[in-house]
Amino acid sequence: MPQAVAAAPAPPAKVADQLAARFGKRLGFFVVSGTAALELALGELGLRPGEEVLVPSLSCPAVGVAVLRAGGCPVFVPSTPALTLDLDWLCERVAGSEIVIVDHLYGMTVDVRTLRERFPALRIIEDTSKAWGATWQDIPVGTAGNLAVCSFGRNKPLDAGGGGGVFAMDDHAGRLLTPHAVETGQADVPWLPYGLPDWADGTIAQAVERADRKLAFRTRRASEVISRLTRIGLAAMIPAVGTKWSWNRITAHVPTSSDMGTVITEIEQMGLIVLRPRVHLNWELPVFKGVSKPPPARDREYLSNILFIKI
Ligand SMILES: Cc1ncc(COP(=O)(O)O)c(C=O)c1O
Repeated sequence: MPQAVAAAPAPPAKVADQLAARFGKRLGFFVVSGTAALELALGELGLRPGEEVLVPSLSCPAVGVAVLRAGGCPVFVPSTPALTLDLDWLCERVAGSEIVIVDHLYGMTVDVRTLRERFPALRIIEDTSKAWGATWQDIPVGTAGNLAVCSFGRNKPLDAGGGGGVFAMDDHAGRLLTPHAVETGQADVPWLPYGLPDWADGTIAQAVERADRKLAFRTRRASEVISRLTRIGLAAMIPAVGTKWSWNRITAHVPTSSDMGTVITEIEQMGLIVLRPRVHLNWELPVFKGVSKPPPARDREYLSNILFIKI
């Protein structure tokens, strides 16, 4: 009688693939930085030389820089008073299959699902670098875009000291998103970034645990701080019902009529730490001069009424 052979246990899922599940994706690829992850994602979505890519006007400059490095032309999309991508502007501007990078800046989530429903052919990269664990109406960030990208850089919610990831479903894991291409680079794509060595997996897995603990703490702390701000008449910007607070500060909108100095003193007297935004007006940076398209100039006005409160 032949002996029954025990089935070999399935190999444990790679850390990158486990992380992909958090963004509603199946496959994950770790690379050297968030910027590299964006470049890789742009290549994977078929960016052509000189092609326009819609990027948020208020965001980390690395987002637009990744477009330049990958050979595209950043077109800056204006923001709403909540500092997120102006979807109305975007919907008027797109024809159907453009590439757009959505940044959930400071955990302020953008309604990517609606964008996806209106423009099924749009190629959407969701940058979740500043929104680990955040949700849009209970839908985790990263799930509605074609690809999700995350930086694991210092001071990000998911801080592994450096690195980045691209997360995809099978239909978007094509020419560039293969373990071989990511690990070795491809001769015909000179800017293709290299993957992280396997030993980085442990560091990233630990960073995920830390990020989850912080997420639980911040969600509690944010609701406390928001109710105190509401008592002094400051609208804290909560993006949507069902949103978890992933960033380490709350964005508060000060009514234009208020005296900013008095408001800051009042908040500080509550024992809270106030920070003024230093968000870049990206299109004014030298790197983008002459190689990008600026948005209508109303973001500066929005920024002047914003305060960050540390949580
Ligand atoms: C939204 C966003 N995307 C991408 C990046 C770039 O990430 P990295 O510094 O890991 O290249 C940053 C960095 O601050 C960021 O804030």
